[in-house]
Amino acid sequence: MIFTVAIDGPAAAGKGTISRAVAARFGFRHLDTGLLYRAVGALGGDPVAAARALSPEDLARDDLRTLEAGQAASRVAAIPEVRAALLDFQRRFARSEGGAVLDGRDIGTVICPEAEVKLFVTASPQVRAHRRWLEVGGDAAQVLAEVLERDARDMGRAEAPLRAAADAVVIDTSALGIDEAVEAACAVVAQRLPRT
Ligand code: DC
Repeated sequence: MIFTVAIDGPAAAGKGTISRAVAARFGFRHLDTGLLYRAVGALGGDPVAAARALSPEDLARDDLRTLEAGQAASRVAAIPEVRAALLDFQRRFARSEGGAVLDGRDIGTVICPEAEVKLFVTASPQVRAHRRWLEVGGDAAQVLAEVLERDARDMGRAEAPLRAAADAVVIDTSALGIDEAVEAACAVVAQRLPRT
């Protein structure tokens, strides 16, 4: 069975948690596509060359989760040649046998417009900044500023900007607990699965 669940949305909306839970529930593979851009940003040097040469070891670095790595990722992600270099890998992952969940910014719009399920997971900037702050600590106002800056860059770029696909189901997690958000996502997937 080829079955793709595309999960897009802004930073700290709950995409990662929902994606992992959906993949575990249905036995699908999961790709966090933000990690690809984080790794390219963290490698430094020429981002296009880094994207073309990206290896599995690059994705296993343990400094990819920081705010700085997120900002660097968002910057290299605006470069069309970087996105082009990462496209085939993501498409193959999405459309190979066995079911796949990909989360990112452009999965339902660019990487896999034919995805069987498209979710757009979002939450208010305040709620997302608070969640990020719980993870990383530090100055709360600074964390909110970084969230807003990254939103603006990801939504405003010319190439594959962050936006909901026309046929995406929007899940706003501002007022949802983790379990409720996961159940909402799983319900959409269950409904679209081919009957056996
Ligand atoms: O989801 P994340 O915070 O790990 O993503 C880091 C950055 O990478 C994000 O600010 C924008 C970019 N990104 C992207 O442009 N396209 C994707 N599919 C995933 C991430």
